[in-house]
Amino acid sequence: MTNRRIVLTSRPQGVPRPADFRIDTAAIARPGAGEVLLRHTWLGLAPAARLRMGEEASYREPMALGDVVYGQAIGHVVESQAPSLPVGTAVMSVSGGWQEYSVARAENLVRVDESVAPANVWLGALGTSGMTAYVGLLDLGQPREGETVVVSAASGGVGSNVGQIARLKGCRVVGIAGGEDKVRHVRDQLGFDAAVDYKSADFAQALTAACPSGVDIYFDNVGGAVRDAVWPLMNPGGRIVVCGLIAEYNDSRQGGPGWFPILSKRLALHGFIMSDHLHRQPEFLRDMAQWIQQGRIHIQEDVSEGLESVVPAFIRMLTGKNFGKTVVRL
Ligand SMILES: NC(=O)c1ccc[n+]([C@@H]2O[C@H](COP(=O)([O-])OP(=O)(O)OC[C@H]3O[C@@H](n4cnc5c(N)ncnc54)[C@H](OP(=O)(O)O)[C@@H]3O)[C@@H](O)[C@H]2O)c1
Repeated sequence: MTNRRIVLTSRPQGVPRPADFRIDTAAIARPGAGEVLLRHTWLGLAPAARLRMGEEASYREPMALGDVVYGQAIGHVVESQAPSLPVGTAVMSVSGGWQEYSVARAENLVRVDESVAPANVWLGALGTSGMTAYVGLLDLGQPREGETVVVSAASGGVGSNVGQIARLKGCRVVGIAGGEDKVRHVRDQLGFDAAVDYKSADFAQALTAACPSGVDIYFDNVGGAVRDAVWPLMNPGGRIVVCGLIAEYNDSRQGGPGWFPILSKRLALHGFIMSDHLHRQPEFLRDMAQWIQQGRIHIQEDVSEGLESVVPAFIRMLTGKNFGKTVVRL
């Protein structure tokens, strides 16, 4: 019984390359007291893994060379030393990693209820992406009915949920995405009030036109030039939720907007890490499960097949070629 896994072999310079990773095999670890062995059926890929591939520590320790790449997984319990999770239970692990099997403590796993939504949705709308959107928008952004919310990476795992939840709260929602297909999807499938292509030449004018009353909340998933364009549109009293800086993960840049408007417009900026807000998980799961079952949240996933497709799918996500939450079926 062996475990196939993807390990980091070199620290990426810029966009990761396939040569930065290797698939190897190792003996399957055995669970100790209070632990279970999971056989993974789905992996969820997240840009945060890129942050941990660099040498400089971000908000989590960098991975060591030779480590299994960090990532979320859905799996079934195949061996249990924890009475609360018998063999056969389906669970989501935030740190299962890019591999076929993992061992985890029972209290670190979330039970997957497939009567609410298919297992893979527990990596996206009902998983880390959805909860990041829920906590970041509702707790930090504090949306009020009628306000304008702008969200970047709007077709992606986090952004698609931010916009849909903001709509459910009565806000006017403007999405920013790369390319015509994504813009159309955000507007027509996800139901945003407007969507703007940041790759088009007239991006800044189009964004201004899409926000006639300015911007009350900017949910920033990308940083960089997109954030620069939203910045002058912020209304006094506006809130900026700093969720991710994907435009800067492969190419850390200096500079950014001048900070004087923080003062003059009394802006509140909130940087946040979802895992600091786990006490909100019961309300998140209650609300999100209900919205999904009522058909009020549209699920868009970018699905690949097999461990060999993990690295290509990850590189596609970091370069904007994914369409929705990136998941891999094993
Ligand atoms: N704070 C937290 O706790 C937390 C938790 C989860 C995720 N995050 C962050 O949230 C963001 C979104 O994550 P996700 O998992 O939902 O990924 P995602 O949006 O599904 O995929 C990443 C998207 O980022 C966009 N992108 C890539 N390079 C870009 C660039 N140079 N400029 C502008 N956009 C670019 C692409 O969309 P386009 O084609 O539209 O450009 C791509 O589809 C990431 O920054 C991630 O690190 C933070």
